[in-house]
Amino acid sequence: MNEFPKTADLMRRGTDFLGSETAILCGAMSWVSERNLVSAISNAGGFGVIACGAMTPDLLDAEIAATRALTDRPFGVNLITMHPQLFDLIAVCERHGVSHVVLAGGIPPKGSVEAIKGGKNPAKVICFAPTLALAKKLLRSGADALVIEGMEAGGHIGPVSTSVLAQEMLPELSADHLIFVAGGIGRGETIAGYLEMGAAGVQLGTRFACAVESIAHPDFKKAFFRASARDAVASVQVDARLPVIPVRALKNKGTEAFTAKQREVADILDREEVAMAEAQLQIEHYWAGALRRAVIDGDVENGSLMAGQSVGMLKEEEPVADIVAKLMTQSEEALARR
Ligand SMILES: Cc1cc2nc3c(=O)[nH]c(=O)nc-3n(C[C@H](O)[C@H](O)[C@H](O)COP(=O)(O)O)c2cc1C
Repeated sequence: MNEFPKTADLMRRGTDFLGSETAILCGAMSWVSERNLVSAISNAGGFGVIACGAMTPDLLDAEIAATRALTDRPFGVNLITMHPQLFDLIAVCERHGVSHVVLAGGIPPKGSVEAIKGGKNPAKVICFAPTLALAKKLLRSGADALVIEGMEAGGHIGPVSTSVLAQEMLPELSADHLIFVAGGIGRGETIAGYLEMGAAGVQLGTRFACAVESIAHPDFKKAFFRASARDAVASVQVDARLPVIPVRALKNKGTEAFTAKQREVADILDREEVAMAEAQLQIEHYWAGALRRAVIDGDVENGSLMAGQSVGMLKEEEPVADIVAKLMTQSEEALARR
């Protein structure tokens, strides 16, 4: 990355940690972040992350092996903390010597960070930090790096914007810790800004979902190219007792279907037919199924078109290598102008 000396300098801590050429992660996207996209990202100098989502340990095993066959560069695996077989999935990662495990979807359950960092093939742990207090707790509990992700992002989101999270967390944490910034990043000038504030790197999802190497259905990609930022809306919670994590996706019939699904789950919760944890799991399964319908089957009406607000900047399919090169060039030019 000699062409981008200023950016490479600011990314150094991130690239040393990830073992990649640039500190640009492609955040795990269920159904999208599989062997093809993940290996393409890592081969292009970024850091790809497999989305395990609801995969069984056997499926994850096969996906890691297939990804390894397509790249000799490092990549990570994203595990959802509420997966009922989380510890089996960790064991699969260990068997393959996966270098980085990202824990998403809430506070890591007891023993999970230790399981990832212990064992014969210890991996680095990356966690999502929604608040400064939790960030400090996660770092004390052994997280090696954090992702702070604002509500501009696609998929499951928190309530605070990326710009505010970055201002709250980077000055306080970045001198001693590795913090990657995610959510709403569409151009390299923004990357330069977060790097200057102390970020070790950045994570993008939406920008890579429509790359040439992404297996997402052509209709899924077309919906992204047609959309503007304001079409990527956060889901609403219909029942105060059912704390559903909001999801940002393009508006369609599926958005309404999700509201109906929440009512249905709230009803069975009312009738005490399920416990809260099971109710929330049902909601998560709903999302996984709906996302699959859009990404794999191309049902852009009823499926979930998870997308961040940066979707408005996407106009065409581009190879991953071009996206990475563009982002790095924009960042470098911005830093050179300073
Ligand atoms: C289609 C889609 C699916 C996603 N699925 C997951 C997931 O399974 N696990 C996860 O941790 N994040 C998921 N995300 C979030 C991304 O990993 C990433 O953090 C986010 O897209 C970054 O924000 P951006 O979309 O503004 O670039 C998803 C995002 C999208 C757009």
